Amino acid sequence: MKRNILITGGAGFIGSHVVRLFVNKYPEYNIVNLDKLTYAGNLANLKDIENKPNYTFIKADIADLDEMRRIIKEHEITGIIHLAAESHVDRSIKDPFTFARTNVMGTLALLQAAKEYWESLPEKYEGKLFYHISTDEVYGALELTDPEGIESPFTTTASSSEHHLAFGTEFFLETTKYNPHSPYSASKASSDHFVRAYHDTYGMPTLVTNCSNNYGPYQFPEKLIPLFINNICNRKPLPVYGKGENVRDWLFVEDHARAIDLIFHKGKVADTYNIGGFNEWKNIDLIKVIIKTVDRLLGNPEGYSDELITYVTDRAGHDLRYAIDSRKLQKELGWEPSLQFEEGIEKTVRWYLDNQEWMDNITSGDYERYYTEMYQNR
Ligand code: NAD
Ligand code: TYD
Repeated sequence: MKRNILITGGAGFIGSHVVRLFVNKYPEYNIVNLDKLTYAGNLANLKDIENKPNYTFIKADIADLDEMRRIIKEHEITGIIHLAAESHVDRSIKDPFTFARTNVMGTLALLQAAKEYWESLPEKYEGKLFYHISTDEVYGALELTDPEGIESPFTTTASSSEHHLAFGTEFFLETTKYNPHSPYSASKASSDHFVRAYHDTYGMPTLVTNCSNNYGPYQFPEKLIPLFINNICNRKPLPVYGKGENVRDWLFVEDHARAIDLIFHKGKVADTYNIGGFNEWKNIDLIKVIIKTVDRLLGNPEGYSDELITYVTDRAGHDLRYAIDSRKLQKELGWEPSLQFEEGIEKTVRWYLDNQEWMDNITSGDYERYYTEMYQNR
């Protein structure tokens, strides 16, 4: 079957991995990548596939309803994988309106444009899907019952062999009540509700997935892992928020992209799946792994960059612990992460060290000024 698939936010971190996977794996599909190219969007992320015959890039803003109507109709779109968003919590604290505009109004514009086009066709919603990519942050924060961690009750390939811990007994389930705290997570929660409302009200075939923190190549260096790798290389301070005790659950980005592919093709319409690898890390422990890996690969003596660790004022409303229970996805669709955490981190650090030019291009100019100001204000 010929499918015309619109992927939004495809020039960003996760989106670029999803676009690459679909363009290479499905030559029979037309893949349309729609992205506004904000500071976070970078076409250099897709150099290797930009000339493929089944790939088209369109620069557009998802909040522009008329543009969304035109593009969806012109390209006869039958499936949408929606990743475009403002995605950084610290930016949302400074500028919540941009997050409401893109994440809420943008998602709504995309839903409305898809609804109008699909309802105008003789077969209407048959063979259509609106797949919305969301985050575990909409569930709020879990309690951190044991700051040292206990043996995790669950295992996947992503769980590290050396470090297989849970920092509490509760996990986010698909049924966990939404309780967002940051302007970012509030805007994502709102967009998730709109997606489900378009299913319940108009019968649009929709799907939502909520994934844990991603890491890997092409992540913008304002997020913890690429920021710290870059700062270690440049002998800059590593700003650890608060005491570094907050816990995040980390998944290699290509495993997220593989899950998106599987769910897009096999997921149950109107359902929700949590995506994660049962791979919880306290920030400070993760940071020590990053320092050790970078130092080793750069040929520095062990402990050489430890002195860069700098404790700074905590993030406002900093969620203590995220931990995803992804057993539904594993049981129903047979998804498993492919990479163990040690391999994923090694691969990631090597990628940033080998792609210094990519990093230098995006850390010059505006971003450098933004980051310096952000850091000075802490
Ligand atoms: P990112 O910030 O790296 O990329 C976002 C992309 O969206 C960029 O290319 C940007 O140019 C584009 N964009 C922003 N505003 C737009 C607009 N108005 N119109 C069109 N394009 C626009 O984000 P990411 O980390 O790749 O996250 C992608 C999606 O996955 C987001 O929806 C995010 O909420 C979700 N998510 C991210 C993570 C994570 O750890 N990064 C985890 C779970 C879910
Ligand atoms: P981040 O990568 O921003 O993802 P999120 O806030 O969506 O989980 O941050 C991951 C964790 O690292 C989070 O607990 C905040 C912390 N952090 C720092 O301690 N220092 C930093 O400079 C950054 C960017 C994050």
